[in-house]
Amino acid sequence: MITPQEFARRRRDLMAMMSANSIAILTAAPERVRSRDTYFPYRQDSDFQYLCGFPEPEAVMVLLPKRPQGEFILFCRERDRSREIWDGYRAGPEGAREGYGADDAFPITDIDDILPGLLEGRDRVYYALGRNRSFDGQLLDWIEGIRARARTGAVAPDEFVDLDHLLHEMRLFKSAKELSLMRKAGAISARAHCRAMQAAHPGMYEYQLQAEIEHAFATEGARHPAYGSIVGGGDNACVLHYVENGAQLQDDKLVLIDAGCEYQHYAADITRTFPVNGRFSGPQKALYEVVLEAQRAAIEAVRAGNHWDEPHKATVRVITAGLVELGLLKGEVEELIAKGAYTDFYMHRAGHWLGMDVHDVGDYKVDGQWRLLEPGMVMTVEPGIYVAPDNRKVANKWRGIGIRIEDDVAITRKGTEVLTGDVPKTIADIEHLMAS
Ligand code: GLY
Ligand code: MN
Ligand code: MN
Repeated sequence: MITPQEFARRRRDLMAMMSANSIAILTAAPERVRSRDTYFPYRQDSDFQYLCGFPEPEAVMVLLPKRPQGEFILFCRERDRSREIWDGYRAGPEGAREGYGADDAFPITDIDDILPGLLEGRDRVYYALGRNRSFDGQLLDWIEGIRARARTGAVAPDEFVDLDHLLHEMRLFKSAKELSLMRKAGAISARAHCRAMQAAHPGMYEYQLQAEIEHAFATEGARHPAYGSIVGGGDNACVLHYVENGAQLQDDKLVLIDAGCEYQHYAADITRTFPVNGRFSGPQKALYEVVLEAQRAAIEAVRAGNHWDEPHKATVRVITAGLVELGLLKGEVEELIAKGAYTDFYMHRAGHWLGMDVHDVGDYKVDGQWRLLEPGMVMTVEPGIYVAPDNRKVANKWRGIGIRIEDDVAITRKGTEVLTGDVPKTIADIEHLMAS
């Protein structure tokens, strides 16, 4: 668990970067309807969670650096005996103060009366405009209200600054505690993939493998996947974000599983591709080895001091050379790379930042240049080759093969740490586990 001290440190660090006489405002994630009056499982907004850990919807947090009467104010739902009997417990303002470090807390229904007073006289507002349209409107109304009282001496903030800029840079660098949670998310997800490999057999449905994976997540306390689990048998592996997971697995085909759990708000993101019947065929093996080699080369290139694009470039080189060698591409490797010929088979990037969100926040470029990798960053490495089932330019035996191999890599002071290494990825190790 992230401790109250760590939440407090994050707020302190953010406030230290905010300008004098400013205010930051963040809103909790809204609840979302799944069907009429039932909701999707609630998940707090990552920015909001990062700064206070308050788990409820209908909440607003306000940071006021150097305000003598208190720097952290939380608006939240009041306790309500009848609502709590129906819908579950609420912290209430008192619980927000006692359990979440708020210097002061008020019912969310009072925000109209209180927040304008906190905005008045502040020069600058840090806020992520555009993410919560109805709150954007409320905020602008409050500012308007202050402006309308200018003749009484009221001074409205005159500058809006995107909060994401400061906050997402903080989130990009993981603390020791965050890294330990991500290590755990990685380990649970790795065990889940092993379970799926052992359970797979021809005739099974994709959703049954999904159930094996998600059972393993939940059993270990990771109650939700970090994103919609992808289980694609045969041709379906060529659909990058395939989430239908409804088809039956065929004997001589591969199955691609891209699934990771969320553990205490931190994501894992693993892909493995393996034969449904436990034995790779010749063409499957050949393409698999290319992807595996590309992934190895990319993980090598994940190193403090290298720039963000180097792992990707490593994958492009290995994949292009491999496709030429196997005859799926024809020509000079350098020329094919320059032309982007590989994008018929490899159409995504080699990875992304990973953290509280699966495609985590943080800039990939700084001042127009790919940013340098630094300790504390965590990223995925996930090259793939996908031969469209209708690709008439290649021999029939390659068509409909989709392969991706994905691991999560942390950059540390000592080098790198693969957080998801506990699930096999060589052909021999996969076949061995599946036979056991
Ligand atoms: N699971 C989404 C991704 O790998 O980026
Ligand atoms: Mn990924
Ligand atoms: Mn993935």
